[in-house]
Amino acid sequence: MRRKVALITGITGQDGSYLAELLLKKNYKVHGVIRKSSSFNTSRIDHIYVDPHNKTNFFLHYGDLTDSNSVYNIINKIRPTEVYNLGAQSHVGVSFENPEFTAEVSGIGTLRILEAIRFLNMKKIKFYQASTSELFGETYGKNIFNEISKFHPKSPYGVAKLYSYWITSVYRESYGLFASNGILFNHESPRRGETFVTRKITRFLTKKKLGSKEILYLGNLNAKRDWGHAKDYVEMQWRILQQKKPDDFVIATGKAFSVKQFIDIASKVLNFKIEWKGKGLKEQGYLIHNNKKELIIKIDKKYFRPNEVDYLKGDASKAFKQLNFKPKYSFKKLVEDMVESDLILAEKEIH
Ligand code: NAP
Ligand code: GDD
Repeated sequence: MRRKVALITGITGQDGSYLAELLLKKNYKVHGVIRKSSSFNTSRIDHIYVDPHNKTNFFLHYGDLTDSNSVYNIINKIRPTEVYNLGAQSHVGVSFENPEFTAEVSGIGTLRILEAIRFLNMKKIKFYQASTSELFGETYGKNIFNEISKFHPKSPYGVAKLYSYWITSVYRESYGLFASNGILFNHESPRRGETFVTRKITRFLTKKKLGSKEILYLGNLNAKRDWGHAKDYVEMQWRILQQKKPDDFVIATGKAFSVKQFIDIASKVLNFKIEWKGKGLKEQGYLIHNNKKELIIKIDKKYFRPNEVDYLKGDASKAFKQLNFKPKYSFKKLVEDMVESDLILAEKEIH
């Protein structure tokens, strides 16, 4: 049997880096697509990179999801057995500022890969699409979403991903491709990008622990998300492609917490106590220590989106059953992992 060869778009991102580690452990040859950048953008994968002049199972290729030729050429050259399409402009807030770019990368980018697979007649490739809980936006009276819930995206990002979701399904039905969607709810880790809310919070609080004088400006504190750990979730991406038949799966913890609850729990890990005062745009967070109150969290309107998904909670019953999904990280363990890792980082930055 031919050795498994994976191609990962978005390998420099949070999920791409964990997935690459997982597949290397499983003895895959792993190829990743990286974008040309004027500064280094490989910090999450530097620890697994080996100069290709030496023996290695890990290879990087310049390419871009907006460039059909690069997508086609890479797939033709590598002839992967599995393709994980994790590349995306993945920031919901930014998608309102760069809607066209977001559509090109997070929407049409998926079509470019599927078309390359079709043109090359590589029907044995298994294709994974990184779909998202941002496909859902309205509860329609239900308080939990699963594979058959109604979609109602609320951002240019959500709409781009909706296109990707359906084009994956259409290529599966029309051409018999093994093409599956993982509808993943929010997942975080110490490698989460620093402009996403969880990492923004853990970076801020850990620097505060070491005496920083900064104030944290946030948007909607009451938004609720179903937060899991990226390490648990990349394992499910792999399992989705190991199924006998292509299919779509929701991956979620089934529990939702607000941004404010995330702050409270992260603060507790650091032995901080936060007192909340005021409402709406005037809400403020005070750090209580040594019988003193320090104002440390304020609201800034600029972090509110023109349209917001207020609430997301997923029902992963199908994945629990068919993929044997058993997350190793609880919400508390996830927060602890992020806080502990960012504390080490903050200490390094000070010295
Ligand atoms: P991430 O950290 O933002 O990583 C995104 C990756 O996409 C990066 O490697 C980025 O490269 C790459 N990329 C951006 N534009 C590209 C382009 N034009 N061509 C090729 N690659 C491009 O995202 P993540 O959190 O790992 O998420 C992985 C995937 O899952 C994304 O598709 C995301 O939309 C989706 N998703 C994420 C979550 C979540 O909660 N994390 C939930 C559901 C779905 P650079 O490093 O060069 O920017
Ligand atoms: N980023 C950010 N910054 N979000 C904030 C802030 C802030 O200062 N203040 C409040 N929030 C709220 C957002 O409005 C949102 O309701 C929630 O915190 C989470 O925001 P993000 O961490 O940016 O994640 P997201 O839920 O919008 O999107 C992430 O999860 C999706 C899956 O549901 C991304 O990873 C997407 O790529 C992914 O598809």
